[in-house]
Amino acid sequence: MGMLDIITIGDEVLREKAEKIASFGPEIRILADAMIESMRSERGIGLAGPQVGVLKKIFVVDLPEEQEPRIFLNPEIIETAQEQTYYEEGCLSIPGVYEDVLRPAWVRIQAQDINGKAFTLKAEGMLGRVVQHENDHLQGVLFVDRIPEEKRDKLLNIYNKKAKIKIKGKSKSKSNNRRIL
Ligand code: NI
Repeated sequence: MGMLDIITIGDEVLREKAEKIASFGPEIRILADAMIESMRSERGIGLAGPQVGVLKKIFVVDLPEEQEPRIFLNPEIIETAQEQTYYEEGCLSIPGVYEDVLRPAWVRIQAQDINGKAFTLKAEGMLGRVVQHENDHLQGVLFVDRIPEEKRDKLLNIYNKKAKIKIKGKSKSKSNNRRIL
């Protein structure tokens, strides 16, 4: 499958709901591997199916502090913390812009692994943040939907300007030390 193109905001596929995965054959493994490879090449720490045009309930996470990338199939958040925290988010589908997003401090998530085996995980800290961001992608929700309208308009204006320059100059600016979800 190789490297996958990452779809950016404006494409309707990012607004659709992903479907449940019913079979756990080699094609899911191939897809997950390609997603991990593509996420890493763009220096992202999370990537969801719709971002590569696949409307299936799959996302991958790759935190620098963890040895192995994680794969979540058919995830479902079953519990959320009362406490909420701000953290600056970015997204491979809205490259180059970042904003603080308020979300529950942790979530409990139920999902299946690459073999279809169910697991439950309490995701806190950075993992909790990425899991919530990626799970949103499966519902057609982007992080910009979760910030105040005024900030969102500003952010998208900046993004649109940057996107124009990028097309013109074909320059591909990588995100320095930022973590893109
Ligand atoms: Ni994202």
